[in-house]
Amino acid sequence: MYRSHTCGELRISDLGREVTLAGWVQKIRNLGAMTFVDVRDRYGITQLVIDENSPAAVREAAEALGREYVIRISGRVLERASKNPKMDTGDIEIAVTSLTVLSASEVPPFTIEDKSDGGDELRMKYRYLDLRRNPLKNAMVLRHRLAQGVRRYLDGEGFLEIETPFLIGSTPEGARDFVVPSRMNPGEFYALPQSPQTFKQLLMVAGYDRYFQIVKCFRDEDLRADRQPEFTQIDCEMAFVEREDVIGVFEGMMKSLFRDVLGVEFDGPFPRMTWHEAIERYGSDKPDIRFGMELNDITALAQGKGFGVFDSAQYIGAINARGCAGFTRKQLDELTEYVKRPQIGAKGLVWVRFEENGNVKSSVDKFYAPDDLIAWGEKCGAEAGDLLLIISGDRMPSLTALCELRLELGERLGLRDRSVFRPLWVVDFPLLEWDEETGRFYAMHHPFTSPLACDIPLMDSDPGSVRADAYDFVVNGVEIGGGSIRIHDPALQARMFDLLGFTAEEANAQFGFLINAFKYGAPPHGGVAFGFDRLCSLFGGAESIRDFIAFPKNNSGRDVMIDAPAPLAPAQLDELYLSSNPPAKE
Ligand code: AMO
Repeated sequence: MYRSHTCGELRISDLGREVTLAGWVQKIRNLGAMTFVDVRDRYGITQLVIDENSPAAVREAAEALGREYVIRISGRVLERASKNPKMDTGDIEIAVTSLTVLSASEVPPFTIEDKSDGGDELRMKYRYLDLRRNPLKNAMVLRHRLAQGVRRYLDGEGFLEIETPFLIGSTPEGARDFVVPSRMNPGEFYALPQSPQTFKQLLMVAGYDRYFQIVKCFRDEDLRADRQPEFTQIDCEMAFVEREDVIGVFEGMMKSLFRDVLGVEFDGPFPRMTWHEAIERYGSDKPDIRFGMELNDITALAQGKGFGVFDSAQYIGAINARGCAGFTRKQLDELTEYVKRPQIGAKGLVWVRFEENGNVKSSVDKFYAPDDLIAWGEKCGAEAGDLLLIISGDRMPSLTALCELRLELGERLGLRDRSVFRPLWVVDFPLLEWDEETGRFYAMHHPFTSPLACDIPLMDSDPGSVRADAYDFVVNGVEIGGGSIRIHDPALQARMFDLLGFTAEEANAQFGFLINAFKYGAPPHGGVAFGFDRLCSLFGGAESIRDFIAFPKNNSGRDVMIDAPAPLAPAQLDELYLSSNPPAKE
């Protein structure tokens, strides 16, 4: 027997018991006559004591121990002289009567403590050691809880968990594909799914009217804190549903996860906001509604006074930073630099201070009289003590820059509390996006997204204004999930492909299998997919999804632990009929 108990289990009620534990050596304190060894497993830490009463063999074995050795010990549970109330097992210790080293360890490259001394890259290389640390262990436990919560809820709602293949053709989610060469089909490639989108729609045609899967998806796109090249979705589809049915089921799922995993209850339905409203009020289709400081359009008020920057702008927007009139010049300069960063791209930042004494001062006093500035203030609900921050330029870039500024200010002012959750559904996205460069429309979600029934006539007259029957689930400024009602009418699907500039041949070449399937009785259907890693990091109060993935990639898409990707041996390339000509390394 390796163990009778785990290292997190023994309590004062176990005094006198003979027990056997197995685990890793966390810490050794040699006090001369006495040696204390902390032994750890995933359940906790138990203190072992070895002294002159211990058998000589135990004392000798203890001398040779090092950090992270794997040991098995037997002994008797004693009450500790000095208790540690911070530890679950802090009332007891084990007087060791036998000690076996099951496995020795080299000195680990960083400390396996809650706060480690290891840098990011080093901890990624030794991920299996990093995973021994509590923060990562807790993240894995949270992930497991959420996965089980999802399965329990959806099983209860009659959903079937069905797997779909990974070796497929291109899927339409809009990122680059990861591809896999086929040895048996020389010169041909599979693509890994960016999502199971087309397969779940085929399952609806097949009659499996409630499907879900917790599934890996693969997208070759630029990485960020909330993006990994392989990530996990809670992917779902339902037949014979309208938008309200889908939202109803998955709002229920989210509420049950918040309740069961975090103990957070929500009264009433989650709020809804149209895409237009979200862009107008927050400059983003994933608004963080934990705090106000909304965007105000002051274009009409601020033009025509001779300030060229504003007069030539398509849009002038302001946010009211409440109580921030006292910001120093340095703070304002910092914010200006912030919005001028290339990622944000604003040309500059105009400010107006409504001072406590009633004075109004601005960075554009040369062009505007106090009454002009007061009118802006009124539009933004500013009072004495408030600060307006204004960005101008082309409409969408300015809205986006204001959104970033708002989030940054929210962060600095402590308004983005990670223990507060403000979910909402963003609905009525545009169906299509116009791309200036290629001079054509692209599907904002994917080509199977249905337009709102009332907007179908606009597909001919004004395609750009057609709204999609699509919805995103957003929490605290993060897009957690998205979905839509799908097109199930072949004629409407053909019209959509046409708008997207696909010829019938091109549409058939890419999606012929789905178009064909829809000829054999496709039920009305719709669905949604949630980013499972993002959901985990949201629940865990973290920004990055990395710590909630057991073996993630770094920012260059590398697994530094197994050193992948890596070149193939010439023989393997030959077998796949491939040749490799990478650019020379710098
Ligand atoms: P979408 O492309 O919006 O929809 O993806 C759904 C959710 O997946 C998460 N996500 C990611 N998470 C981590 N890393 C990534 N690279 C990444 N990309 C996306 C996001 C996102 O909201 N088939 C459709 C869903 C549907 O219409 O049913 C789809 O994949 O949280």
